[in-house]
Amino acid sequence: MTLARRQLLKSLVAASLFPAIGRVEPRLPRSRPLRGLNGELDWLAVRDLFPLAPDWTHLSSFLFVSHPKPVAEAIDHFRRKLDSDAMWIEIAAFTDAEGRPFAAVKRALAEYTGGMPAEIAFTSNTTTALAMAYHGLRIRRDQEIVATEHDHYSHHESIRYAAARSGCGVRYVPLFDTPAAARADQIVDRISRAITPATRAVGVTWVQSSTGIKLPIAGIAEAVTRANRGRTPADRCLLIVDGVHGFANQDVDIARLGADFFASGTHKWLFAPRGTGFLWGRSDAWPELRPTIPSFDPDGIDTTFGAWADRKELPPTQAAFVSPGGFMAYEHLLAIPAAVELHRTIGRDKIAARIAELNAAFRDGAARMPGITLHTPRDPALSAGISCFEVRGLTPGQVVARLAEKKIRTTTSPYKVSYARVSGGIMNRPDEIESVLREIRALAA
Ligand SMILES: Cc1ncc(COP(=O)(O)O)c(C=O)c1O
Repeated sequence: MTLARRQLLKSLVAASLFPAIGRVEPRLPRSRPLRGLNGELDWLAVRDLFPLAPDWTHLSSFLFVSHPKPVAEAIDHFRRKLDSDAMWIEIAAFTDAEGRPFAAVKRALAEYTGGMPAEIAFTSNTTTALAMAYHGLRIRRDQEIVATEHDHYSHHESIRYAAARSGCGVRYVPLFDTPAAARADQIVDRISRAITPATRAVGVTWVQSSTGIKLPIAGIAEAVTRANRGRTPADRCLLIVDGVHGFANQDVDIARLGADFFASGTHKWLFAPRGTGFLWGRSDAWPELRPTIPSFDPDGIDTTFGAWADRKELPPTQAAFVSPGGFMAYEHLLAIPAAVELHRTIGRDKIAARIAELNAAFRDGAARMPGITLHTPRDPALSAGISCFEVRGLTPGQVVARLAEKKIRTTTSPYKVSYARVSGGIMNRPDEIESVLREIRALAA
């Protein structure tokens, strides 16, 4: 055994002998119950969990989380552990003394995704997850990546930067001509036709923040599977999904969607701490990636550290090798299970139904309004929690500014063609949708 390896093991054994200094127990949240005596969910109690400014209507909460109370409590719990003893992190990572909180994060995410803990790499956000997938992808110069014209900056630039290193080609495919008239069969057909024998990866966005359109991922996955018939692993086309705006607002096990890799921040719809996310990959897809940033993930550290210490090749890639390392804001990472638990308490199906109902109400109202162009389809199969629209005579920025004057928070989509966006989340009430529709009607008058 080399010196470096021995030193690492020694420090782990030593760590296991230490108790953590200043153990701090979590404070119990003192919120009102989420369910009434009849078992009915109380959406006002759900709203009360969020410290959002009470005098504003928040219709952009999909952008970045406001930590709900149980999540804030969990962050505080881990922050106090770390603040009282920085070595706590090694004790927690490598011994049983603190209940293996890293494993608890992977278990919680695995349960929520319908996958397995070993299929999950930790990342700080969607952007890093996408970058790890594309930069890590084993791809040759004679191969290509096919993306769509509707993906986010973080997705397209992950592909472009990675392609500049590997020398592979990149193509962008339009999936529809007009967003409001998008059709699932046409979307699948266009992806299907775009795949050639040289296509090593297809990158798509589950719910586009450019248009609000929800893509038929299952149909796209079938098209990729058909294209892969007879291909060797090195030529296999992988389906990489930016899933951030579908994750935790659709009642779906994302590990069963048919993707090879699924990238998502957890700091949007899941309400997990800011600066958290993950890359999920099918067990047999991970060897198709290389790690990009040295990992500190406790699940893989013996192997990655050992390969470094012994100057050896890493074995076939596992998810844990791809979690980008360096120390990080562990009080945030380790608090992810509190967000999963909150979703479980409310019910993933209830959350999905509430978001579908609120956003459908917005789209139905907006579609009927003179002077408004609704770009997101009303078909629930093609839409989710984001609605994109234009108001005649106003730029998207003017729409958002005028609504902000009424204390209604909305956003513009950060794309070359930009729209105003409204998004209802579990913190919103139906009357807030009515009030934003009223104000938009007044803007268009
Ligand atoms: C479709 C899409 N992908 C990726 C991102 C970037 O997400 P993150 O902040 O988690 O990196 C965004 C931002 O909201 C987005 O809309």
